[in-house]
Amino acid sequence: MAVKMLKGFSSDRGRSALTASAASPKGDWLERWLETVSDLARLKERHPMLDAVIDEIDGRMIRIGDHWLADFASCNYLGLDLDETVLKSVQPYLDKWGTHPSWSRLLGSPVIYEEIEAKLTELLGAEDVLALPTITHIHMSVISILAGAGTIFLDGRAHKTIYDGCQLARHHGAKVKKFRHDDTEHLQELLASDSSKTKLICMDGVNSMTGNAPDLRQFASIARDHGALLYVDDAHGFGVIGERRSRELCDYGMRGNGIVKHFGETYDNVVLVAGLSKSYSSLLAFIACPTQVKDMLKIAAPPYLYSGPSPVASLATTLAGLEVNEMRGDEIRADLHRKTKTVLSCLEKLGIATPNRSGFPIVEIPLADQQDVDDVGRYLFKRGIYATLAAYPLVPKNEVGFRIQITAANNNQQIAHLVTVLEEVADRFKLQNASRVARWYRG
Ligand SMILES: Cc1ncc(COP(=O)(O)O)c(C=O)c1O
Repeated sequence: MAVKMLKGFSSDRGRSALTASAASPKGDWLERWLETVSDLARLKERHPMLDAVIDEIDGRMIRIGDHWLADFASCNYLGLDLDETVLKSVQPYLDKWGTHPSWSRLLGSPVIYEEIEAKLTELLGAEDVLALPTITHIHMSVISILAGAGTIFLDGRAHKTIYDGCQLARHHGAKVKKFRHDDTEHLQELLASDSSKTKLICMDGVNSMTGNAPDLRQFASIARDHGALLYVDDAHGFGVIGERRSRELCDYGMRGNGIVKHFGETYDNVVLVAGLSKSYSSLLAFIACPTQVKDMLKIAAPPYLYSGPSPVASLATTLAGLEVNEMRGDEIRADLHRKTKTVLSCLEKLGIATPNRSGFPIVEIPLADQQDVDDVGRYLFKRGIYATLAAYPLVPKNEVGFRIQITAANNNQQIAHLVTVLEEVADRFKLQNASRVARWYRG
């Protein structure tokens, strides 16, 4: 099985290394993993909408070979990747700092990091912020440190990178207990019956597949009642949702300062992790935490000690993006909200089921028959729509479908075309029925 899967593996050295590890007893995990991802691997080999080579972009249009498509797979929600102010910000920083400071952060960091951390601290209303290259780096290091030899309570639908961070924490001595997705009662039962001194609850903010957010007020309150720490990954919420105000321009709230502020919560017993690589189009991530925790992470978190830092261009676009956010972020979000609403209203009119109940710009459309994912994807591609194929094991088998992300840089014409194509898809393919979808994603 593993050997068959390695057909597309071009390097001989890589091939023999992988084959050797698969053949050894220790390689069993690879056999199992390759088995699990066999549907995905088949799609990756043959499908134009997976592992694609993008030849060119023009706004939110992409060219693959001679085929132009409207891109609804980008997570650049605010469209800052194409914003003139952001684009122009890079060169002066490159002139001053070169392309890449190749110090680990422990050795030294350009002063830009201080500015970014101070600005993020103010925006989030947190005590302090530590910036590291990616959210994955943060999960793979910080979860272990915060959990110690205690217990982690892990949401059943937590993102794979959180799950992997928890597995590593288990290896370091933590216990991991899963609670049913978004199920506060189940979480409370598990917390009440656990005698660990250290308790860490790990979950997503805005969910990367459903587009919905947990009721953070409830989860934060449960964490406080049980002396636990709530660790939330808001990769998709930060930049899009923020604090609620009476004069807000749309339901996303204002300032894009993330899920904690959106729910009017404080950071007591709450640690927020998010990234700049989605809404801010920059390779950087952060953890909002007390200064004491930040100081501890500076000596205990391997990515601070050993990893290469974010490139200067990303530090520059982060700062410029934060400025744009201050100047016109709320108008951009209002536009994003309007475009998302157009798509969601079309789905409702057509009776197409989606788990999205939030109105946030992540819209998954599950199929009635998972085998159709290949054909549906090809149809979307042929009609000039680029979406994310939600194949197994990216989602459970009965939830296979496709996901659309709307960004402020998708123009009205692209939105109108998407609506037309969704109508055609609903005509030609059997999509999942609404009551089943509602049952899967409780809460
Ligand atoms: C919820 C969530 N967490 C983490 C990540 C990974 O983020 P990063 O690229 O910063 O490691 C993603 C990426 O899609 C995500 O959706």
